[in-house]
Amino acid sequence: MSELKARLALDADLIEDTLDKLLCKDKLNGSDMAEAMRYATLGGGKRIRAFLAIEFCRLFGGSETDALYYAAAVEMVHAYSLIHDDLPAMDNDDMRRGKPSCHRAFGESCALLAGDALLTYAFYVCAVAPHSAEKNVLAVKTLSECAGAGGMCGGQELDLMLDCPDYESLKKLHHLKTGELIRAAATLGYIASPCEYDPEVAARISDYALSLGLAFQIEDDLLDVRSTTEELGKPVGSDEKNGKKTVLSYMTVEEADNEARRLSTHAAELFAEQNDGEVVSELPLYLLTRKK
Ligand code: IPE
Ligand code: IPE
Ligand code: MG
Ligand code: MG
Ligand code: MG
Repeated sequence: MSELKARLALDADLIEDTLDKLLCKDKLNGSDMAEAMRYATLGGGKRIRAFLAIEFCRLFGGSETDALYYAAAVEMVHAYSLIHDDLPAMDNDDMRRGKPSCHRAFGESCALLAGDALLTYAFYVCAVAPHSAEKNVLAVKTLSECAGAGGMCGGQELDLMLDCPDYESLKKLHHLKTGELIRAAATLGYIASPCEYDPEVAARISDYALSLGLAFQIEDDLLDVRSTTEELGKPVGSDEKNGKKTVLSYMTVEEADNEARRLSTHAAELFAEQNDGEVVSELPLYLLTRKK
């Protein structure tokens, strides 16, 4: 476990540095929108998606450096999704990562554009990543599928419809809004590795990422009721305020904990036998203990 914690810290530093360079003034236009892009992306977040990209790249024989552009692209898409998620038209939340949410700091129109620009820039970063054109196209295609109408955006739409008759439909929502971007992170890490893309391996990575993603969103729902705003860095009670269906609409806290554990254990087993698979295998159960 100490190796996992060390890697989480190391990968977070690496991605912070990469994002800082990619989002520097020379590359952006120095406007308020550019400042909002930096504000929403740098200096916070657990960097779980970057970790997955970097560690799946390492697991398949790549170096951490190989994964950094793709990892940065996924974190940019994630940051954009959080900016838009907090807007008054969506969850209307005033705090994110322990500071005012982007629209509270920069105004709604600027925040909207910063999100748009981060999403667009993410695809540019994939396109110019230091890999073959073939790999970069596959990365763009995968990220676009996972983030778009059939992925995260589709999940956000379901989330806003407030219409989830049973746990099966909530699972689909969580899978799309959260699982798909986590799947993109792990898969892009694999694409960045020197391995030739094998659909069977990609399917195992998807299984891992979607199980972890569902457990991660179950924990997020639980933290919304059992944490504090100070600890979480975002407002607790947001789901109830917005009339959202969460895992607790269908089961008790204890049952939800068990469900998250079952999913995390499944994810952990998928790479446990693989050489150097420890770090990736320990992450799902470690995340069950997270406080934010
Ligand atoms: C928050 O994601 C949104 C969800 C999909 C639950 P994270 O909990 O990974 O947010 P950061 O990046 O650590 O702030
Ligand atoms: C958001 O889910 C998932 C995204 C695609 C951004 P939530 O609305 O539950 O995320 P938080 O709790 O605001 O971070
Ligand atoms: Mg939301
Ligand atoms: Mg939200
Ligand atoms: Mg939430």
